[in-house]
Amino acid sequence: MAKLFNSYILLFFFFLSFAAIIANAETDQPQELDEYWKKRAEQAENYTMESYEPNPERVTDEFNAQVGELIMGKNETRRNLKGQKKYVGPCKVTNPIDACWRCDPNWANNRMKIVDCIQGFGRKTTGGKGGPIYVVTDPSDGDLVNPRPGTLRHAVIQKGPLWITFARNMVIRLQQELMVASDKTIDGRGANVNIFDGAGITIQFVKNVIVTNLHIKKIVAKEGGMIRDSVDHFGQRTRSDGDGISIYGSSNIWIDHVSMENCADGLIDAIMGSTGITISNSHFTKHNEVMLFGASNSYTQDKMMRITVAFNHFGKGLVQRMPRCRHGFFHVVNNDYTHWLMYAIGGSMNPTIISQGNRFIAALNAATKEVTKREYTEEAEWKNWLWKSEGDLFMNGAYFVESGSPANLHADKLDMIPFKPGTYVTKMTKFAGALECFVGKPC
Ligand SMILES: *[C@@H]1O[C@H](CO)[C@@H](O)[C@H](O)[C@H]1NC(C)=O
Ligand SMILES: *[C@@H]1O[C@H](CO)[C@@H](O)[C@H](O)[C@H]1NC(C)=O
Repeated sequence: MAKLFNSYILLFFFFLSFAAIIANAETDQPQELDEYWKKRAEQAENYTMESYEPNPERVTDEFNAQVGELIMGKNETRRNLKGQKKYVGPCKVTNPIDACWRCDPNWANNRMKIVDCIQGFGRKTTGGKGGPIYVVTDPSDGDLVNPRPGTLRHAVIQKGPLWITFARNMVIRLQQELMVASDKTIDGRGANVNIFDGAGITIQFVKNVIVTNLHIKKIVAKEGGMIRDSVDHFGQRTRSDGDGISIYGSSNIWIDHVSMENCADGLIDAIMGSTGITISNSHFTKHNEVMLFGASNSYTQDKMMRITVAFNHFGKGLVQRMPRCRHGFFHVVNNDYTHWLMYAIGGSMNPTIISQGNRFIAALNAATKEVTKREYTEEAEWKNWLWKSEGDLFMNGAYFVESGSPANLHADKLDMIPFKPGTYVTKMTKFAGALECFVGKPC
């Protein structure tokens, strides 16, 4: 996540000084930016101000009302138990995001419809809606400065809204981080797309990006180099740490139905004042530090962070940070936590964490029963942080240590929210992860 930038022209003048300020990622200050990136940062800050939700409780409330409506409004039939082989049978939807599009056999002719389906803090995201469709036909990533037309890298740097799809199944090994420009949707539906064994996806100082239906696995650190980030600009990037998806100073982001595992750094990081984000319907496995929301104690703009984490399955082989939060407001709702080796939800620097209707299954080890973890803080201080658990289902001795008083916030409505209790979660997350979708059939 620690990133340094400098444009081509400045490279030679500043090379030495930049090399000297590579900072510790956990404690770093905002990095020094060159003129180009300063402008991008300022623009991004404006987007952030537009996206920023000053009354987050209103959004959590709205979200939960949608969930309640779906399950109560429709009679669901019984489904196979989790753990059985892939579900075969008529298309079923089990949460309001999926309900909005997934069982429509005509989804492929109406891809942009999913923009209407977003719930939670990322709900204003439109991605590439209104733009043309761009079909990726070439899995290669050979030229980072002048990417070949037909490649994913060529698609994501384009100007204006663009809806990016894939002509067929493919494995894409990114030579360096993929710099995604504003107003893009990367839509892997209808193909099995693996971002695998290379660099990850970077969403930096932009707005309005959707990533859906991808496998992102075994992402590794890369040494950096000259990389194009838009049609108008390329520049020197320093090392990328090996995050699966790195959201940096960006707003209005939706990540849905992604399967992620085993990346060198985080699976998803959202840092440097990123806000307006929903991460939903995804499946995470085999990883240590899963999600980091806010990387710096001193970066108080992170108070603007608003992130919804919903309908995800945190599965096999996960260790910690699901998520680990600083400063902002985080709604963690109706996720299935079936495995963690250290803790599930943690943080520092007074983040607000509203945990509702999740299922937490602790491992056998008695030392890991606590869902929560406050990092580097005395109880005298954290007892005032608002960390609230409502309707969560705890199994195998799992427990959530609450703190703070909702009365501290304008949270008068919080207790009345009709969120779904954790007993529904297996059902709601059944189709988490990248889907196998065929054109002409429900997804
Ligand atoms: C950001 O917003 C301010 C105030 O509206 C405006 O003056 C400035 O030009 C904007 N900056 C960019 C880069 O869009
Ligand atoms: C659901 O089932 C109940 C009882 O079987 C019935 O009264 C109700 O009308 C059904 N609702 C819908 C939306 O079909």
